[in-house]
Amino acid sequence: MNKRITVLLLSIMLLISCAACFTGCNKKEKSPGNAIPEDNDGPAKFTVTALSVSDKIKISYMLELEPGAEGGKVVVTAKPQKGKTVKATLSPYGSAEIDCPDKAGVMTVTLAYTDKNGNELTKAELKAKDGLIQLTPDGILPVVAAMTDEEKAHLITGVSEPLKPGASGGTYAIERLGIPSITVNDGPAGMRYGTTVWYPSVMNLTSSWDTELIAKVGKAIGEDSLAQGIDIILAPGMNIQKNVLGGRNFEYCSEDPLLTAFAATAYVKGVQSTGEGACLKHFAGNEQETWRGSASSAVTERALREIYLKQFQMTVAAASPISIMSSYNQVNGTYTSINKDLLTGILRDEWHFRGLVMSDWGSAGAVEDKVNAQNDLKMPGDADDAEHIIAGLAEGRVDAATLDICCAHILYTIAKSPTFRGIKMNTGVDFDAHNRIAEEAAADTFVLLKNDNSTLPLKKGTTVAIFGNGSYQTVYGGDGSGSVSPNETVNIMNGIRNSADITLIEDAYNIFERCAAHSKTNSKFDIAVSAEYAKGCADNSDTAVIVISRKACEGEDNSPTEGDFLLNERESDMIRNVSEAFHAKGKKVTVLINTGSPIEVCSWRDLVDAILFIGYPGQEAGNAVASVLSGKVAPGGKTVMTWPKVYSDTPAYDHFPGNSSKAVYYEDIYVGYRYYNTFGVEVAYPFGYGLSYTQFEYSDFSITENADGSFTAAVTVTNTGNTSGREIAQIYVSKPETTLEQPALELCGFAKTGLLQPGKSETLTIEITPDALTSYDTRGSRYIIDRGVYTFSAASSAGSIHAEQTVEVKELRVVYDVENRCAPAKEPEHIKK
Ligand code: BGC
Repeated sequence: MNKRITVLLLSIMLLISCAACFTGCNKKEKSPGNAIPEDNDGPAKFTVTALSVSDKIKISYMLELEPGAEGGKVVVTAKPQKGKTVKATLSPYGSAEIDCPDKAGVMTVTLAYTDKNGNELTKAELKAKDGLIQLTPDGILPVVAAMTDEEKAHLITGVSEPLKPGASGGTYAIERLGIPSITVNDGPAGMRYGTTVWYPSVMNLTSSWDTELIAKVGKAIGEDSLAQGIDIILAPGMNIQKNVLGGRNFEYCSEDPLLTAFAATAYVKGVQSTGEGACLKHFAGNEQETWRGSASSAVTERALREIYLKQFQMTVAAASPISIMSSYNQVNGTYTSINKDLLTGILRDEWHFRGLVMSDWGSAGAVEDKVNAQNDLKMPGDADDAEHIIAGLAEGRVDAATLDICCAHILYTIAKSPTFRGIKMNTGVDFDAHNRIAEEAAADTFVLLKNDNSTLPLKKGTTVAIFGNGSYQTVYGGDGSGSVSPNETVNIMNGIRNSADITLIEDAYNIFERCAAHSKTNSKFDIAVSAEYAKGCADNSDTAVIVISRKACEGEDNSPTEGDFLLNERESDMIRNVSEAFHAKGKKVTVLINTGSPIEVCSWRDLVDAILFIGYPGQEAGNAVASVLSGKVAPGGKTVMTWPKVYSDTPAYDHFPGNSSKAVYYEDIYVGYRYYNTFGVEVAYPFGYGLSYTQFEYSDFSITENADGSFTAAVTVTNTGNTSGREIAQIYVSKPETTLEQPALELCGFAKTGLLQPGKSETLTIEITPDALTSYDTRGSRYIIDRGVYTFSAASSAGSIHAEQTVEVKELRVVYDVENRCAPAKEPEHIKK
C-alpha cells in the first residue's frame, strides 16, 4: 500500500485527515507499523469520502494505485431496489455524479476500477436507504459525514443499557444510518457473561510456550463469545509481570515482552479467526493494581519503549487486533486515555493501528480530552458525556476533525463485527468439546519445579493422601473482571477421584472437604494438619499431595507477608508435619502451587520431593492435575516469571507499589531475568525454567544471518531419558554495549518440540526478527541494532545455557526512527549497571 500513489482526490480536507487513518496514505514513519496488513492489499484501493443521494448520486473518493496500475477506468453503478440500474464510466480523473433513477428503498452504489487490460482491480460498495447513506465497510467516511454532532457525541460514549445481562458494555446504535450496537465482554480466561467455560489463565497459557495451543484456546474463547452474542472479548491482558506481587499477573502473559507478544498474537489470532474481535489491554504501564486509577508510572523512555510498549507494538503488527483498551494509570504524568503522545503519536502514527481504542471502565480524564487523544470510545458512557462533547465542540475544546476520526474508528470496528456481518451468534456454548479443550490445555501449562528421584509421575495404583484447602477449594482463576461462571468445575480431590490411574485415600481428604464445605470464604480458610493426623495418613496411603492456594483479585496487589507471598504458619506446619510423617515411612511428598504469581519456596522446598506449579488452570483443574500426577500427560510448561528467593531480592521491591500519585519503575529495563542475570542475584527458579519427566540434550546450535537483517537459529534437542516429553528451547542474545548499556541477556526466540519419544531428536528452527534485537536509543529517538558482537545462546532457561554462537554486526543499523514521545519531564530514579 505504501507504494501506491493517490491519483484522484475528491474530498474536503476534514475527510482527508479521517481517511488517512484508514488508508495509510498519511506520511509514514519508518516503523514496524508498515507491516500491518491492510484490509485490501491489492494493487488498487478506493476510499470513499462522501456519498449523497437525491436526484443525483454524488460520490467522492480517493483511488490509490500501485505504479503500473494506472490508465484504467472507474465504473459507477447504482442499483435501486426498484427502478432501473444506472451506470457511468469515468476516467479516474473525472468526477462521479450520475442521475438517480429512484432513491426510494435500498440502493447499492458500486465503484469499480478496471485497468487498461480490462481486469477489475478493486471495488467499493456503498448503500443508501431512502436517499440516506447506510453503514458498509466501504462507506465509513460518508456515514461520518452524514452524522449529526449529537450522534457523534453519543457514538463515542459507550452504553451499558440495554445490554445482555452481565456484558461489560456496548456501543450506541444509530438506526437511521444502519449502525447497530455491538457488545463487549470480559475477559481473558473465558466469558464473564453467562454460563460458559473457564479456561486456564493467560499466565498459564503462556507457561505452555505453545503458540498453537494458545491459538486453539483463543479460538474456543472466540466461539464461546459468539455463542453468547458478544462482538469483542476484552482480552488478552498483556501488561508486564514486573513484580511478583502484581495482583493481575494471572491475567498477563509474562515478565518478558517478546514472550508476551508471541502469546498475545496467538491468542488474538485464535479469537479473531472466528470473526470475533479481541481487545489488547491495558495500554499501557498498568503493572500494578494499587492506586491504578491515580498513580503515574514513572518510567524512562527507553524502558517504556523496550519493555512496556514492545509487546503491544509487536502484537498490533502481527495480529491486527480489532481493539485496544487504554489503562487506568498515568504514564509519566498523563492519564493514558487522554495521552496524545501514546494514543495518537505512538499507536496511530508510528504503529498505524486502525482499530478502536476504548478506555478502561470509569478511568479518569474528561471525555473531551479522551476524544482529542483518539481514545475513541469512553467506557462506560455517562449520561452527560454527550452534552460535554457538544459543548466542547461549540467552545473549541473538542477538535471536530478528531471527533470524526474517533467515530470513523468505531464504525470501522462495528463494520467488522459479527453482529454487523451477520455471523451466526447466540447459538449456545459447545460445553462437551470446549471443556475438553480447557482440560487438555490446562495440563500443558503446568510447570514442574522440582522432582527429586522421579517422585512424579506416580505409578499406576498409587494411593494418594491429599492436604490443603485448595485440594477442595481449588482456585480455578482470579477474581474481578477476569473471572468466569463455569459450566462445571473439577477440584483437585475430584480430579484424583475421577482418575483411573491413582486413588484418593478418603481419610485424608475428608477433613478438608468437610470443613471447606462449611466455610463461606475462599481465600483465608485454612485447616491445621497435626503431626498425629499426618502420621495416620502416612500409614494409610502411598504418597502425599499438598495444595497451596491463593486467590488473586483485580483491584488488589498481593502482599509480601504470610498467607500471601509467604506461607502462613498453618501451611508451614502442614508441610513439615506431612513431610516428616511420610518420609519416616519412606514415602514421598508433592506440593501443588495453585497461585496467580510466584510465591516464596526456598524456606520449605527442601522438605518436599516434588513441586508442580499449576497456576490458575481453569475449571478442569482437577482432571488436568490427575493426568499430570499419573503421567498420562507430561508437564510441558516453563516459568514465565522469575521466582525470587526472597521478596527483597526483586529489583524494585522498595518502589512497589509507590504512592497514590507515583509508581517509580525503578528497575528500568532490568525487569525480571534481565535484572537477576545482569546483577548476579541468585533466584529460586529462573525465567523459562521447567522440568519434564524425561531429560533433554542440546546439540548442533547454529546462527545464520539472513539478507533482510534477521537471523535464523537452529538447535537439535534429543530426549535422553526414558519417557516421552516436549522441550521448550530458548534463544537468548547478549548485545554489544557499543552505544547503550545492555542486560546480560534477552530472550529473542523460542520453540517447543513435538512429543519426543526416548532417544528421538528434533531440530528446531527459530526465526529471530529485527524486532527481537532492537534497542531504543533515547538520545537519537530511534530503534537501533547496534554495531558489535552479539552472543546468541541456546538455553533451557535463563539460568541454563547449553551452547553459544557469536555474530558481529559491522555497522549500526537504524531500524526505525520515531519521535521522543511519552518521555518523562525528568528521568525517574532507576537502576544502573
Ligand atoms: C478492568 C478491565 C475490564 C473492564 C470491564 C475494568 O475494571 O480493568 O480489564 O475489561 O473492567 O469489565
